[in-house]
Amino acid sequence: MIKDEPKEILITGGAGFIGSNLALELQNRYPKSNILILDDFSSANFKNLKGFKGIVYSCDVSTDEVFFKTEDWNFDLIFHMASITDTTVEDQEYMMRKNVDGFKNILEIAFENEATVVYASSASVYGIVNEEIPLKEDREKSPENIYAFSKYIMDNLAEKTAKETGLKIVGVRYFNVYGLGEAHKGKFASMIYQLYKQMKEGKNPRLFKWGEQKRDFVYIRDVVDATILAKDAPISTVYNVGSGKARSFNDVVRILNEALGTDYEVEYFDCPYDFYQVFTEADMSKIKKDLGFVPKYSLERGIREYVSLLEKYQR
Ligand SMILES: NC(=O)c1ccc[n+]([C@@H]2O[C@H](COP(=O)([O-])OP(=O)(O)OC[C@H]3O[C@@H](n4cnc5c(N)ncnc54)[C@H](O)[C@@H]3O)[C@@H](O)[C@H]2O)c1
Repeated sequence: MIKDEPKEILITGGAGFIGSNLALELQNRYPKSNILILDDFSSANFKNLKGFKGIVYSCDVSTDEVFFKTEDWNFDLIFHMASITDTTVEDQEYMMRKNVDGFKNILEIAFENEATVVYASSASVYGIVNEEIPLKEDREKSPENIYAFSKYIMDNLAEKTAKETGLKIVGVRYFNVYGLGEAHKGKFASMIYQLYKQMKEGKNPRLFKWGEQKRDFVYIRDVVDATILAKDAPISTVYNVGSGKARSFNDVVRILNEALGTDYEVEYFDCPYDFYQVFTEADMSKIKKDLGFVPKYSLERGIREYVSLLEKYQR
């Protein structure tokens, strides 16, 4: 269990949305630790790392270059966030190579360094579930696209490697994360950011009819806290990381209107998909029981804070 200050930390995907927020918080909590970020900058923004004092190398972790760029380091902790996050990529070989082979390389480095690994899984592994029940980690998985499938195989690889090597490998299965530092993701940024942008441009926010579909939106500050806490998991496992509360898209627009002091009406349009998830909610009992983690941000508080930061930093 790493309770003391880690000496050397690797963060892959550290110039992305979650990785950069994580890097800045780790630097804050562990000022004496040396932090290395590896990122291929395929979906990143260096501006997210303003104030970061560690080292950043451009590196695709699915290539052998990752071994050269880490050979002088001795990590005790690895956060693996790097991944293709464009969920519409259909090239299966490409997605699997980047996400699964990349993870395999990181696990090899963890083995050489005897490092604890925390890696990003995704709620997409559960697939389209239309019962209104919170999703438990051990429920049936049904990945619907190659992105979700790659995350599902990463979970399997983590479990197998942990069993065979005794390494501690902990998955954090994120739900719909929102917060400062996601703008570079364009149409893959959160719905909260998309709706905020539409309203800032003076447009009515657009939702599928009738805006009552619900998602588990989780604020970046809670995500970072849960991710750091995950290193102290008693055993290798996977934890849901959500807010634990499904909220509707109509709720999001209402709260954005309150935060912005506006009164935009929603423009509803037909959903073009045959299968569209109407409800997701994380069952958060496992991470609470094992690690005492309880999200601090309601949707109201998270959006209020996010809007005030967006207004201040414009990114
Ligand atoms: N944001 C969410 O709502 C959400 C939900 C579920 C899971 N996740 C997972 O969380 C992690 C972080 O996602 P994010 O939202 O910060 O997205 P992001 O796109 O901002 O971050 C991913 C980072 O990984 C980098 N990257 C991609 N492929 C790489 C490679 N082969 N080698 C090195 N770097 C590479 C990108 O340049 C980017 O900086 C990802 O693993 C993602 O699948 C995110």
